[in-house]
Amino acid sequence: MTQTQALRLGVNIDHVATLRNARGGDLPDPVRAAALAAQCGADGITAHLREDRRHIRDGDIERLAREIDLPLNMEMAATEEMRDIALKHRPNACCLVPESREEVTTEGGLNVVGEAAALGEIIAPLKAQNVRISLFIDPEPDQIAESAALGADIVELHTGTYCHAHADEDTQRVQAEIARLQAAAISAAQAGLEVHAGHGLCFETVGAVAAMPEIVELNIGHFLIGASVFSGMPEAIAEMRRCMQAGRSAIGGRS
Ligand code: PXP
Repeated sequence: MTQTQALRLGVNIDHVATLRNARGGDLPDPVRAAALAAQCGADGITAHLREDRRHIRDGDIERLAREIDLPLNMEMAATEEMRDIALKHRPNACCLVPESREEVTTEGGLNVVGEAAALGEIIAPLKAQNVRISLFIDPEPDQIAESAALGADIVELHTGTYCHAHADEDTQRVQAEIARLQAAAISAAQAGLEVHAGHGLCFETVGAVAAMPEIVELNIGHFLIGASVFSGMPEAIAEMRRCMQAGRSAIGGRS
């Protein structure tokens, strides 16, 4: 039996920027939120520079890369503009996500199978500069296989469908989605990919995902920033860690 790997928490600070942008000024400062998350024991910072700059701005990415002493996971669409920004700041990782202007948040995973050639052109120069490549995908076998074939380092499994099923209190769908995520995590790890997960996770949903030994990092934003409004970020992060640990310690002999 191998030792279960530690589970890292990446804190997504996009929604601190959403709040800042609601008034158009400089406050609250998402980089300050990242510094506080670092003090509270976050393992990484995630920020999504969207094409329409609706929350994170170019200057935030620059400051996060320069001022925050944690690995930066820069989420971005697979475009030449974003590739060039990432090449300038060289984050620890780029997580490529699908993006459309109309969506409220990232709605589905990347179509790696259908867009392999275009993705390859964005991935190659980033990898050449030692930026790790993460592909945000639905937990589907063909997307995993193509991610590995493209030379991705990481896949981040989209947990949104699972979290929606939980919100709908649809137990059957919850069980089916957990099984789909678990199968995907196993096959991604077998393909040599590092496995991350995220989207829509909260105190109640995180445990079942943390219980998957192949998953080594969770990226969590909206719920955590929302919980911080009520309890403060230190308590919100500490409680998320407790929920993650409770799930992780449920791992039995399968690890
Ligand atoms: N992972 C990815 C790839 C995302 O696009 C997002 C949302 O920006 C998250 C994780 C975090 O999702 P949430 O804000 O719902 O926790």
